[in-house]
Amino acid sequence: MASLKGWGKAHVNMALVKYWGKRDDDLILPMNNSISWTLDAFWVKSSVTFDPTWKEDTVLIDGTVAKPEDVLRVTRFIDHLRAQEQVSDRCRVESVNHVPTAAGLASSSAAYAALAMAASQALGSQLSLRELSRLARRGSGSSCRSIYGGFVEWLKGEQSDGNDSYAVPLGTAQGWDLAMLAVIVEAGPKAISSRAGMRQVVQTSPFYAGWLASVDEDLMTVRRAIQHRDFSALGQAAERNALKMHATTLGANPPYTYWLGVTVDVIRRVQAMRDAGVEAYVTIDAGPHVMVLCREADVAEVKKGLGDIAGIQTLVVAHEGPGVQGGRIS
Ligand code: PMV
Repeated sequence: MASLKGWGKAHVNMALVKYWGKRDDDLILPMNNSISWTLDAFWVKSSVTFDPTWKEDTVLIDGTVAKPEDVLRVTRFIDHLRAQEQVSDRCRVESVNHVPTAAGLASSSAAYAALAMAASQALGSQLSLRELSRLARRGSGSSCRSIYGGFVEWLKGEQSDGNDSYAVPLGTAQGWDLAMLAVIVEAGPKAISSRAGMRQVVQTSPFYAGWLASVDEDLMTVRRAIQHRDFSALGQAAERNALKMHATTLGANPPYTYWLGVTVDVIRRVQAMRDAGVEAYVTIDAGPHVMVLCREADVAEVKKGLGDIAGIQTLVVAHEGPGVQGGRIS
C-alpha cells in the first residue's frame, strides 16, 4: 500500500483556570476541570505520513531531527491511534512551531492537537472533535482544549477509562475587546516540567488540598464572567487562580517555583498599573513567562508600562484564535 499523509494546524491555548494535578498519569486524567482561551498568535502545523515500508518513526521539529525522548513520546501518542485504527505502519512527523519555544513558551498544547488532527486525517479516521480532543489529551493534557477556538472547558470526567474527559467549547470573545499580551522573559531551560511539577505538588504539597477545595468556585466565576462579558470578574478570577496554582509549588517537598525575578517584577508592575487605573491581570503557566489579560484599547498603555523592566525578551499581542484545522494530503 502507498503512503498516507495528512496535515493539522492548532493554536496554543492559555488556561484562565489551570489544569493542575492528575488523577491518572497514564491516561492523563485531571483532578479538576480547567478553562482556557485559544490564542491567534501562536500555533503549530504538522504533517504525518504513514508508510508500510518504514522501520521506525521519525520526527522533525522545525526541520531538525527530534531528540530520542521526544520521538518516543510521539511514538507512544501515535500508538493510541494505531491501536484504535488497527494500523502498524511507522510514520514521519514534520512539525513547524510558530511559538517561541526557544524562549520557553509551551507549544505542547498546540503540538498534540495538530498531531492528533494530522495523523487521524492521514489514516482517514473520521474522528469527531470530541474524539480528537480525547486523543489529543493523551499527548499533553492541555492540548485537548486546543481542538476548539475561543473559550474552552476541559471536563475532568469521572470514569476510570477517561472516556468522559474531553474539552467542550464555551463561546467566543468575538466583539469583546479582549487581548492577551505575552511577556516572554529571558530564561534558560525549565528546571522542572509541568508533568513532574504537578506530580510533586499532588504528592507532597499541603496547599494542594486548598487548590482543589477552591477551584470549583473559580470555574463558576470564570464561566459566568465569559457569559456576561464581565472583564473585571474574568481578570480577577484568572489572576487569583494562577497565583494559587503557583503557591502550591512553594508548599511542595522539595519546594520549587517556576518564577524568576523578572516574573515578580512583571506581576508587581501589572498590579501597580491597575492601581493607577489601567485594568490588566496576569496569568502564568508552568514557567516564568507572564500573560497579561487586558482590554484591546489598553494594549499600548500596558506595553509602555512594562517597557523598562529588565529581563523581558519580547512582548507579543494575542487575540482569540480558531480551533484545529486539517485535511488529507494526496
Ligand atoms: O498539558 P501540560 O502537561 O503541558 O500541563 C499544562 C499545565 C498548565 O499549563 C500549568 C495549566 C494548563 O491548564 O494549561
